[in-house]
Amino acid sequence: MQIAQTIQQVRVLVRNARKNGLSIGFVPTMGALHSGHISLIERAKKESDFVAVSIFVNPAQFGPNEDFEKYPRPIEQDLQICRNCGVDLVFCPSSDEIYSGEQLTWVYVDKLTETLCGRFRPGHFRGVTTVCTKLFNIITPDFAFFGQKDAQQAIVIKRMAADLNMPLEIIICPTVREEDGLAMSSRNKYLSPQERKDAPLIYKSLQKVSELVKTGVYDSSVISAEIKKILAESQKIAVEYVEIANFENLEPQESVKGKTLIAVAAKIGLTRLIDNIILDAP
Ligand code: PAJ
Repeated sequence: MQIAQTIQQVRVLVRNARKNGLSIGFVPTMGALHSGHISLIERAKKESDFVAVSIFVNPAQFGPNEDFEKYPRPIEQDLQICRNCGVDLVFCPSSDEIYSGEQLTWVYVDKLTETLCGRFRPGHFRGVTTVCTKLFNIITPDFAFFGQKDAQQAIVIKRMAADLNMPLEIIICPTVREEDGLAMSSRNKYLSPQERKDAPLIYKSLQKVSELVKTGVYDSSVISAEIKKILAESQKIAVEYVEIANFENLEPQESVKGKTLIAVAAKIGLTRLIDNIILDAP
């Protein structure tokens, strides 16, 4: 496995892979790798000949009061996981390598970034789309893999790639969960034992509405109320939003109809967690 810290090193390694006729799969991450990330890497291994993973805690996507400083950075452990997965190239640049000098150019996706998490994390998606554009330009992948866990992010990136005619395919992979249903996240490490015990209520509430929809309950206000009722079982959980939205354009829906995203964001203590399911109703 090659480890590159500079853009120049990546360009040489990718050029060699291309010369050998290999297709390139790319998994962007911020490290603290867990089974969710590993599932993306495994999918990339299946779909492409040469797999690149980036590990970069992107300052541009954190708000001033967010967890940039305390975000976990277990780099040796992450490199070992990548080795075990058969990754070909890990790109772990410094902030200066990615943001050298003053950044005057930003990539911004309209509309899709103004709802859901966008309302609570101003500037977040601009940071994500800008860093992903940079990483796509550096790695030049044929395929890039994103998790459904961050559904809005995946939808925004897919739209950005389409709107800007980026020559790659965005592949969205299923959410990987702990045994009790909690979606895996690097931020789960922040949870106290009691918070960790309550956190699976988020997925439990989503499962409950999935059952409700199967019995013919489609009304968004009923679904939203049910989710909030279940989350209220924990005094530690403060709901940020419950949204029932069209999976393609993220516009709110009055009822579950077609491919519908049911998304939840909540704070458990100081930790912000998100989760979602996609339902298909007639
Ligand atoms: P990070 O949170 O490290 O996540 C990297 C990728 O792993 C994302 O596509 C995310 O959706 C996926 N992922 C995280 N948890 C998952 C889970 N439980 N199951 C499946 N996939 C999961 O998302 C980012 O980093 C950054 O915003 C990034 C795209 C790297 C840009 O900086």
